[in-house]
Amino acid sequence: MTVYYKGFPQSTREKKLNLVNLNQLEDEVKYVMPEAAYYYIASGSENEWTWRNNTQAFNHFQIVPRALTDRSNPSTDTTFMGMDLKTPVMISPIACNGISHAEAEVDVAKGAKAAGALYSMSTYANKSVEDVQKAVGESPRFFQLYLSKDWDFNRMVITDALKAGFSGFFLTVDATVSGYREANLRTHFTYPVPLAFFNKWSGGKGEGQSVAQMYASSAQKIGPEDIKKIKEIAGKDVPVFVKGVECAEDAFLAIGAGADGIVVSNHGGRQLDGAPATIDVLPEIAKEVHHSDHRIPIILDSGVRRGSHVFKALALGADLVGIGRPYLYGLALGGALGVESVIEQLNKELLIDMQLTGCKTIEDVKHAKIDHISYSADWGVSSTSPSVRKPYPVTKENQLEKDADSTDAESGASEHE
Ligand SMILES: Cc1cc2nc3c(=O)[nH]c(=O)nc-3n(C[C@H](O)[C@H](O)[C@H](O)COP(=O)(O)O)c2cc1C
Repeated sequence: MTVYYKGFPQSTREKKLNLVNLNQLEDEVKYVMPEAAYYYIASGSENEWTWRNNTQAFNHFQIVPRALTDRSNPSTDTTFMGMDLKTPVMISPIACNGISHAEAEVDVAKGAKAAGALYSMSTYANKSVEDVQKAVGESPRFFQLYLSKDWDFNRMVITDALKAGFSGFFLTVDATVSGYREANLRTHFTYPVPLAFFNKWSGGKGEGQSVAQMYASSAQKIGPEDIKKIKEIAGKDVPVFVKGVECAEDAFLAIGAGADGIVVSNHGGRQLDGAPATIDVLPEIAKEVHHSDHRIPIILDSGVRRGSHVFKALALGADLVGIGRPYLYGLALGGALGVESVIEQLNKELLIDMQLTGCKTIEDVKHAKIDHISYSADWGVSSTSPSVRKPYPVTKENQLEKDADSTDAESGASEHE
């Protein structure tokens, strides 16, 4: 059930999860994961307003039910950039999956493949792109780029990912510096498991570093010229999406530089606190992009926890909808099967919503009727705030071994190099 990497406990569970909804995962995962690791994943930045609002803001939109439409047996099959998918739910890129499970990104990729979902892998992954290729062969997958200041590093990452069967890139532009994440400061979080690309590049970098230290080595200025350069290295036919767009102006800058798509994301509320919920800005961005001469695909993530959230995002202009934290919890609790269970749960809820709205296909969902009634979604404090934190459970599986010494750094506030 648990193995240790330099004293850090990693789950080895492999089982389907008996889910009622995705919200239950947050509590269950605490029993198999150390406190600092849980808070690294669960928390947002500053007051966590954006983190909270990401999910709450879906309530600004109401799905108009349809009756008398005879739409039994709906299907969530869809195509995206030439890939056949069984679901519009996508695995958004997450760093250091080894925090959740010994098989890390390999199991996430397997779970995504089993569910027929698009998988994406982070530059800060523990496993190598070759490990993932070995495990899943030809599955649909993109690679996420955290741009380094060093273009030799960027070139290596892009080339290796393409060789290992990744067919496109997400260039993340909202994280040139880490958001102010208080939970990491409180728990002195540093990456406990080595990160494959950094290991290959410089031997051992990544492990034992704080989030702020990692971001300090990445490019602090990303502009349209970088998108062009990535396209030159990758080849003009390789799609490059810009991840972290929250306004039409940035969407058009990306399009102008040759981007093939955008991901409307605020990094799950981990970067700029006070940034709008992605679902609130999606309609405006989609209207501008879809009515322009450069209609490019749009992906939305941040705060998606329900089939109805997926439905609303698609109906408001997204082509795919990404999830982050829930699959990492599913990974800890059930490995590849756990990840598959999480995607299946969202798909199950989505299918019900489709039937209740007379939608037979994902294309129908994209034309479903949504009402907008705005009201404040800011309620209560966040569940990771010290004022509401319950005592963290102590179990055999969530404790560090006594000789754990994998850190060489104090976690610090976000600082530029
Ligand atoms: C623990 C954690 C690590 C993340 N690491 C990355 C990363 O390496 N690259 C990236 O582009 N986004 C990263 N993200 C952001 C996700 O890709 C995604 O935008 C976000 O998790 C979506 O919000 P959700 O968790 O509410 O579903 C990370 C998110 C979390 C929770």
